[in-house]
Amino acid sequence: MNAEHATTVERLLEKADAGEPFLLLDVRNDDEYEAWKVEGRRQIEMLHIPYFDFVEDPGLVAQVLSDRREVLVLCAKGGSSGFVAELLRAAGITAKNVEGGMIAYGDYLQPVCVPLDADEADRFEIWQLNRRGKGCLSYVIRCGTAAIVVDPSRNVRAYARLVERLGARLVGVFDTHVHADHLSGGPELARLSGASYCMAAGTGGELKHAVTPVREGEEIRLGDAPGRSLAVRVVETPGHTPGSTSFLVGRRHLLTGDTIFVSGIGRPDLGGYVAEWGRVLYHTLHERLGALPDDVVILPAHYADVSEIRDDGVVAGRLGEIRRTVLELQIRSAEEFVEAMKSALSAPPEIYSRIIATNLGTSQVEAEEAAEWELGKNQCAASGH
Ligand SMILES: [Fe+2]
Repeated sequence: MNAEHATTVERLLEKADAGEPFLLLDVRNDDEYEAWKVEGRRQIEMLHIPYFDFVEDPGLVAQVLSDRREVLVLCAKGGSSGFVAELLRAAGITAKNVEGGMIAYGDYLQPVCVPLDADEADRFEIWQLNRRGKGCLSYVIRCGTAAIVVDPSRNVRAYARLVERLGARLVGVFDTHVHADHLSGGPELARLSGASYCMAAGTGGELKHAVTPVREGEEIRLGDAPGRSLAVRVVETPGHTPGSTSFLVGRRHLLTGDTIFVSGIGRPDLGGYVAEWGRVLYHTLHERLGALPDDVVILPAHYADVSEIRDDGVVAGRLGEIRRTVLELQIRSAEEFVEAMKSALSAPPEIYSRIIATNLGTSQVEAEEAAEWELGKNQCAASGH
């Protein structure tokens, strides 16, 4: 395709975040459009006209798009939007097809460097990869020529590319827990890179992938230059799942998975044991995380709204601020907490049980079906939204 006639999801989001003027024409069906839309950090001017309406009445082009600004056309996979973009160009409108459509939007990872204090910044770096379409966050941590990845998505080549660009070699791939909302890229990334795939020992015997178990208090050391290495410490934080694990990177950056978010907490009901797991989560939030100082920076695995992305592009929050502002953290008894969870949570999407089985390695899925499973934003939080 002519480059002038196409654009990428990356460029679309750059334009949207920068507030550049354009119109996004979404040509998917009504139900697809209602269920899941592109979100920019600033409001996107959006128009929804299904593809079949254009097929039936190409005259629609002239009616709605007559002011000749740039129009980006989007559909589910990038096919029918290409046809509509061509119709628009034939009518003299500057129109580009968004390549790959919503599938590409759901896969795209935006890398952002997490700011560190000066003494840590010259020893190591933390990259947050923001899966904008789903609100999933994963991480690449590099010290010296060694790197680890935490909570990778299926788009494993993006991690391999970033690690290579940082001049490092991947030495470990970690999952904070068995994810329910998206398919883990952990096993595949480990296979591709030769690194070990690591998960909490507490995940239990259900896991069929070959894993190196990690345990409370264990330290993963990156970099071997004297005085220039990094310790990543394993902190068990069960509750969202029994094996949920957090990782303390350096002095005060805590990767929490789905235990705690910037504006909420993880839901404890996805295994069907809301009372049991809820009680465990309560103790994790108040005792395990309660022991940590206010200035610990929480780097979660999800966010629910683009407003949680800070001006510097990072999704992160101080633990002290989160403790003060998240409503569920104000509850002071485990029983009350469990009751609040029961009444707040609605049934999770049905597909989650199949995603869990695939992440455990007890079943497998083809790439095309996997893309279908992952349509839409995450529903991992128990609160705040
Ligand atoms: Fe989760």
